[in-house]
Amino acid sequence: ARPDALPRDLEGLHVAVSAGGTREALDPVRYLGNRSSGRQGWALARVAAQRGARVTLVAAHTADLVTPAGVDLVRVGSAAELRDAMHAVAGTADVLVMAAAVADFRPAALVEHKIKKTDRDPDPVALTRNPDILAELVAARRPGQVVVGFAAETGDATTGVLEYGRAKLARKGCDWLVVNAVGDGRAFEVEDNAGWLLSADGAETPIPHGSKAQLASAVWDAIRPRAEL
Ligand code: CTP
Ligand code: CA
Repeated sequence: ARPDALPRDLEGLHVAVSAGGTREALDPVRYLGNRSSGRQGWALARVAAQRGARVTLVAAHTADLVTPAGVDLVRVGSAAELRDAMHAVAGTADVLVMAAAVADFRPAALVEHKIKKTDRDPDPVALTRNPDILAELVAARRPGQVVVGFAAETGDATTGVLEYGRAKLARKGCDWLVVNAVGDGRAFEVEDNAGWLLSADGAETPIPHGSKAQLASAVWDAIRPRAEL
């Protein structure tokens, strides 16, 4: 839809969206990363701004995307930086959306100098867990604040995508979980997306196959009535 065709129904709301993929440094030039492009978080931020919200976009590494008009951009690199930025904005935001792909693990030690090649095989890289930012935001949630998580699931022989989504919603304790089916070229590095919007009250809304902007609209449509205005 053209921006001027959208309702200004998010006016008065401050929303914070994380986007992109974190990078966890191994040494000054190397990192562990993931393939998130940041396009879904970007679309959420852009659509929210078009609908009148005050928007803070906390962006980890993303594809070359132009900052949407009217959006406050906070650039971060690692999960630790993303965590600090989200906790800082959580003090004022009415809605927190964790669309970023946060690394579950990081190298246990940051090597200060570039690791050199030698004649022997290298040591294995020891990893340590990153904090679960979404769970922390849920634990620190202010009354009326809405917290939204994302889950990209593939499903397997025994458990479907939706079942994994339900379990994750319960585990995370967030108000909403957007579940995307991934694999076979779906969701990552592509323009389109499809999935379900699961609510903590048990409601399950299928999100039809469409653009990431359409998915963003579906998410804001669902959340708006429950966010304090
Ligand atoms: N997330 C987070 N902090 C982390 C890992 C994930 O805030 N350290 C958030 C993501 O931004 C997303 C949600 O948690 O909104 C679900 O992420 P996902 O990777 O699907 O869930 P995990 O709990 O990490 O479980 P797993 O990767 O094993 O499926
Ligand atoms: Ca994970």
